[in-house]
Amino acid sequence: MPHPVVVLVSGTGSNLQALIDAAADPLYGVQVVAVGADRDGILGLERAERHCIPTFVCRVADHPDRSAWDAALATEIAAHEPDLVVSAGFMKILGERVLAAHTVVNTHPALLPAFPGAHAVADALAYGVRVTGCTAHLVDSGVDTGPILAQVAVPVEDGDTEESLHERIKSVERPMLVDVVGRLARHGHTLTDRKVTIP
Ligand code: GRF
Repeated sequence: MPHPVVVLVSGTGSNLQALIDAAADPLYGVQVVAVGADRDGILGLERAERHCIPTFVCRVADHPDRSAWDAALATEIAAHEPDLVVSAGFMKILGERVLAAHTVVNTHPALLPAFPGAHAVADALAYGVRVTGCTAHLVDSGVDTGPILAQVAVPVEDGDTEESLHERIKSVERPMLVDVVGRLARHGHTLTDRKVTIP
């Protein structure tokens, strides 16, 4: 039986698409059982619908406060009984109820701990680094602070814009995420201090 995974998105969902495509192979061992979003009308939700994957939208604005939103999102996710939750371009900080109930993997477009936060690609470009990349990490209560699972470096080229650099990062981010999600789902993990081991 494939391992059930819920993917959370806020945008175009190309990382989601990579996971859906990988899951078409039974040997990958993962089934994307639902896709959740914090907003309507995004390509990520359309991609899920195209593949007949159930979707849900949980908007902060529809709840009295962040804690109520966290509880509602936790309920939506738990209904699909996932082994793993993947935050793939989900632009919200997850709350304590979601994190207490699930192992959550996030993908971030920089080499953490450099450039955390929502503007990582622009921040790296503005700083003038010559190498940046992407990081898959377990989510904790901080902003992009959780234990690191995988990282891939990419060069910054002269004349890069935020868009061109982000596309170069995403071209290595998708296979990184597919690899790490598959291994985590199939094998589980142990955590010692900040060191993650996937047996
Ligand atoms: C990824 O680069 C992710 O790291 C960042 O937003 C991007 C999402 O891309 N947080 P997509 O929606 O998967 O195409």
